[in-house]
Amino acid sequence: MQTIRGFRDILPEHISLWQKVEKEVFHLFEDFGFKEIRIPILEKTQLFARSIGEVTDIVEKEMYTFADRKGDKLTLRPEATASIVRSYIQHKMYAIDPVRKFFMIGPMFRRERPQKGRYRQFYQIDAEIFGVESAYVDSELIFLLNELFKRLGLTGLSAHINSLGCPECRPSFQTALLNFLESKKDRLCENCLRRMDKNPLRILDCKVNDCREALADAPATLDHLCKDCSDHFDTVKKSLKEQGLDFIVDKSLVRGLDYYTRTAWEIQTTTLGAQSAIAGGGRYDSLVKELGGPQTPAIGFAVGFDRLVEVMEQIESPEKKTLDLFIIALGDKAMEKGYHWSCKLNLAGIRTEIDFRGKSLKALMKRANKLGAQYVLIAGEKELAEDSLVLRNMNTKDQVSLPIETLIPDLIKLYKNKPEEILRD
Ligand code: HAM
Repeated sequence: MQTIRGFRDILPEHISLWQKVEKEVFHLFEDFGFKEIRIPILEKTQLFARSIGEVTDIVEKEMYTFADRKGDKLTLRPEATASIVRSYIQHKMYAIDPVRKFFMIGPMFRRERPQKGRYRQFYQIDAEIFGVESAYVDSELIFLLNELFKRLGLTGLSAHINSLGCPECRPSFQTALLNFLESKKDRLCENCLRRMDKNPLRILDCKVNDCREALADAPATLDHLCKDCSDHFDTVKKSLKEQGLDFIVDKSLVRGLDYYTRTAWEIQTTTLGAQSAIAGGGRYDSLVKELGGPQTPAIGFAVGFDRLVEVMEQIESPEKKTLDLFIIALGDKAMEKGYHWSCKLNLAGIRTEIDFRGKSLKALMKRANKLGAQYVLIAGEKELAEDSLVLRNMNTKDQVSLPIETLIPDLIKLYKNKPEEILRD
């Protein structure tokens, strides 16, 4: 049996970078006032179709959708924003305090063509802020992303930002776009032609080369912003500059989801080949209302966790966890005692292993080496009879005898960084 295409195991030897990121996210995001939220992996298909948009790649081609036994249409979440908005509305969070900051880490599912940096089950680190229209919040989220990547040691990233306007400026942009598209009709792919009537903005993120060339000088939302959107975007840029954050204004950045309004951005890396977006986000000031809540501005981003780890792997190798102590128990009696010692030491936070397979001293020493044990405790029949065990430092090869009576406190002392008290001669 094998995993499904595009799905993968993340094996223990690769997990340390994932855990490093998770620790940093919890620490940093909580310092910035975000609270963790956990949302279901499965939702009604309608939720994603209505929020991401019926005429988008995700909804048209990429969702894992099926009917359950009662015939209800369900979908494995392709992203987190829609579910968090649903939760915000369902629990009437706006009524108690409309201003909320959430984050979550978890798997998402999109049936895309798998390649490096692109999986069908992938992980996102997602953050959302509800209830604040101010441009400082846009700036704060980009600042936060930058800080996360800085703490993780990432370099060579670039922030691409754009403004997608609001329902007020969209009509003028759409008219200009449709006029332009009409003049390029013969160069567009079938999918783009189909989208012309239904969702022309999505044509701007078509990946087909010929379309990209034809659309090179397409009108941009940035040139059609109303005064409020334009002022809002100016404040975002000014505030990023004041914080010393570099960014590129990218008129062609439209993102692949329909809910965005005003600021949208992507953080790109040059080290992952085609899959260059390591994070993406933006405002979605109309979505809460569209899904049945009160008018509530909102904004957020998601980091592609798999891609982030792949970039980190290029700069550091996963940390190899070592073992504090390996107990070599020779014989049944030693194993019985060794088992209890091992549990006690584990409880004291000392990473201890014991092998119960009845192997020889030589084989067990080999295993201790393989596991990277710092110390080995040898308990053979002779040692038990003399009430004293041998503790061997695997680096220096020094050995001392430890009385069984005080074994556990002695070892705890050793691992509290006072080895000199134990290795006295
Ligand atoms: P998105 O741009 O679709 O945005 O995804 C965010 C990030 O997830 C991407 O930049 C990429 O790093 C990663 N990603 C997407 N698809 C895959 C895949 N198949 N394999 C590996 N990584 C992938 C969203 O999902 C929005 N919900 C972000 C957001 C939150 N906007 C507002 N709030």
